[in-house]
This record gives sequence, C-alpha cells and structure tokens, in this order.
Amino acid sequence: MIVNKVDVVIIGAGASGLMCAATAGYRGKSVLVLDHANKAGKKILMSGGGRCNFTNMDASPKHFLSSNAHFCISALRRYSPQDFVDLVDRHGLEYVEKTPGQLFCEHSAKDLLAILLTECEWAGVTIQLNTNIEQVEDIPTDTNSEQDSLHSVKRIHTSNGIIECDSLVIATGGLSIPTMGATGFGYKVAEQFGLTVLPTRAGLVPLTLQPSDKERFAELSGVSSDVTASFNDTHFTEPMLFTHRGLSGPAILQISNFWTPGHPIFINLIPQQDIKAQLIQLRQDSPKATLEKWLTKQLPKRLVQVLVEENEWQGSFSELSNAKIDRISEQLSNWIIKPNGTEGYRTAEVTLGGVDTEFVSSKTFEAKNVPGLYFIGEVLDVTGWLGGYNFQWAWASGYAAGQFV
Ligand code: FDA
Repeated sequence: MIVNKVDVVIIGAGASGLMCAATAGYRGKSVLVLDHANKAGKKILMSGGGRCNFTNMDASPKHFLSSNAHFCISALRRYSPQDFVDLVDRHGLEYVEKTPGQLFCEHSAKDLLAILLTECEWAGVTIQLNTNIEQVEDIPTDTNSEQDSLHSVKRIHTSNGIIECDSLVIATGGLSIPTMGATGFGYKVAEQFGLTVLPTRAGLVPLTLQPSDKERFAELSGVSSDVTASFNDTHFTEPMLFTHRGLSGPAILQISNFWTPGHPIFINLIPQQDIKAQLIQLRQDSPKATLEKWLTKQLPKRLVQVLVEENEWQGSFSELSNAKIDRISEQLSNWIIKPNGTEGYRTAEVTLGGVDTEFVSSKTFEAKNVPGLYFIGEVLDVTGWLGGYNFQWAWASGYAAGQFV
C-alpha cells in the first residue's frame, strides 16, 4: 500500500479551502487540496452574476446568522475586508463598488480565482482535482508520550490513492447548487467524528408563491421594484423581482434567510413615502388626478395595472374616503404574501445551519474533540447576508485555520 504523507490536506478547492491552503503553504507546510470537481472555485466563477461580489467593506458579526452569534467575531476581526482588498490590490485586480460596501470584480470572477490560484502556487500548494474522497480515518500515532498520545494522523482514501496528513481541513461548503459539485460530505465527516450538525435549509433563495398567488401575478414575471421586505423585526429595502415561480431579487433573497415556512412576509411597495399622508395631501391638492396615474410614478406600470384591477382603485382622488385611503395605504405599505416555500438548494446561494460551532474552536477552527480536524467556510453553521459577506466569511475562516493547521 503506497501512502503519501503531507502536513495538511484540505478537502474542497473553493473560496475557504484555497485561502486556507495559501495561508498554510506560506507557513512552510506541505499542503494538498483535493476536490472532486474538474475545476477549482466553481462557485467563485458563478458568483455575483459572473463578477463575484468578493467582500463587503461593512462586514461585521451582525451580518451573519448562526445559532452561536459570537463564533464569527474572532475570525472576522483577524481578517478584515480591507485585508482581502490589500491582497487583490497587490495583484492589480480591478474592481467596483456597486452598492455601498459591495465590491465586485470589474471584469470577471475569473480574475479573482486566478489570484487565489496564483497565491496557492506561490505558497507551494498542490491542487488535485477530479478526486473522489471515499473514506476518512483517524489513525492514532504509535507513541507512549502523553503529549503525542493526543495526536493522530488522518488517512484519506481517495479515487487516486491514500494520503496521510497531520491536519485535515474540511472546506466542502454547503448544499446549494448541487450541479456545481455541492455535497453533504462535510456534514458526514462531522457526524463521523461525533460533532453535531444543525438542521440545514436553503438560504438566500427565491420564494415560491401559493398556486392562487402564482396565477394572480403570472403576468408580472420580470417586473422589479424597490420595496421593503419584512419578517418579524427584520427589514430589507432592496429591489424585489417577480418571477414565473414566485418572488426573487435582493430583498426577497435577504428575507429568505429569516423566513420560517407557514408564515407571511410583509412588503412595503412604496417604502420611501408616508403613503397615507401623501394620499390625503393629493386629495386636497389634485382632486381630479387619479390614484392609478400617481401609482405609475411610484411603481412599474404592470404592477400598477394588477393592483388597480384587483382592488378596484379606479377613479379620482376626490372619490377617496378616509376609510378607503386607510385601506389603500395599508395594502401598499403592508402587502401580505404567504410564500408556499423556497426554490430550495437548486437555486439557493447558501446553506443555513451546518456543523455546530459549539464543537469548533473560534480561534483555530479545529474540532474541540478531534485534534487535527478542522472545519471552515460555509460547511459551518455561519451564514452571511447577501452582499459579499459569505465570501468574507470564507476568507476569514480560511485564513484563521491556515495559521494553525
Ligand atoms: P465552496 O462551495 O466555495 O467550495 C466547496 C468546494 O468543495 C467545491 O469546490 C466543491 O467541489 C468541493 N466539494 C464538495 N463536496 C466534495 C466532496 N464530497 N469531495 C470533494 N470535494 C467536494 N457569496 C458572496 O459573498 N458574494 C457573492 O457574490 C456570492 N454569489 C453567489 C452566487 C451563487 C449562484 C452561489 C451559489 C453562491 C454565491 N455566494 C456568494 C456564496 C459563496 O459562493 C459561498 O458562500 C462560498 O463559495 C463558500 O465557500 P466555501 O469554501 O465554504 O465552499
């Protein structure tokens, strides 16, 4: 049996795995990155519409969901968005700030992936693709010394042979977009070694509508409007998009992280105005003008048509009673939608839940009960909002673990 030995094996050549690999490589460690895909960083390439929203300058712990809200603090502090910007600046990457704080590649996500691969090359990292991982074993080292008795090597059986390492890093991400190589591998390894995996669900994902609503809004597919989407105490003011399956766009993707099935979400269709005060003022100033005409100045025309027809909002402002103004403003500012579900992992950007961080050191990312086993990136129960936060988590957790493997 031929067994190759390296200091560090990282399973997953995605964002966190490549960052961890380069960091460990620069420390002089021999690092082998394994991935079953035929290409490294596939999600980086498809992210941000092909231009990768690679960080958010405002990233802070409040932008992350986890059952252990404090877990992400240390790593985010030790590797900031500015640290990542300094890295890409050293490579001359051209980037743009689209929405405040959100940095995207100016040209293509390929440029960002090339930087990570270059860093790995400079750090002496070996990346082995098209490699299936069959089994992971913990082999205790043959020693009597008390200190060494805590140590073991990890033996990884792959389709391309057996490898042993002192540190094994699981960077296999979440379950979203299975066609891009996502698997539940990391969760299985966690369970194999006695770590708890918290229930997972699709996050940053379009919401589907009940069949009756789907029919009502069928002709609105493709219409986008700036709204405030709310669920409980969480609100996001961003564009919402009607699709042929339901609702999407940044406002909906953001709120999907917080939504729980069976409950309604609330949409303020004209968030920038006090609608009731505005309608009362218009009734006084322009009694002959119509609500429909005013609405077309605030909202996409096709959406206005559906709202006016459904609610019988034809007529001039002078015809509006106070009670009707109350109803109209309520319907516009507190539009209630009870989603049917989500589009699931097929289109989700991230996976909520995952490896329970209670079992992982927030300093080193090593499993507390399994020396030499590390979990980083999205496989952990840490999920960012939309807007570059998830990549910042991948860089920060990868960098932190890379210091200790
Ligand atoms: P990542 O998924 O990047 O990498 C995991 C790697 O493990 C993959 O290469 C995979 O092939 C490999 N792997 C999985 N199972 C394996 C197995 N059994 N054996 C071997 N290898 C295995 N975030 C953001 O901040 N800004 C953005 O613009 C976007 N945009 C975006 C768009 C879309 C469409 C998606 C799906 C996601 C985003 N994201 C995002 C989220 C972001 O892509 C995600 O959070 C990070 O890629 C997570 O990095 P990881 O390294 O944890 O996993």
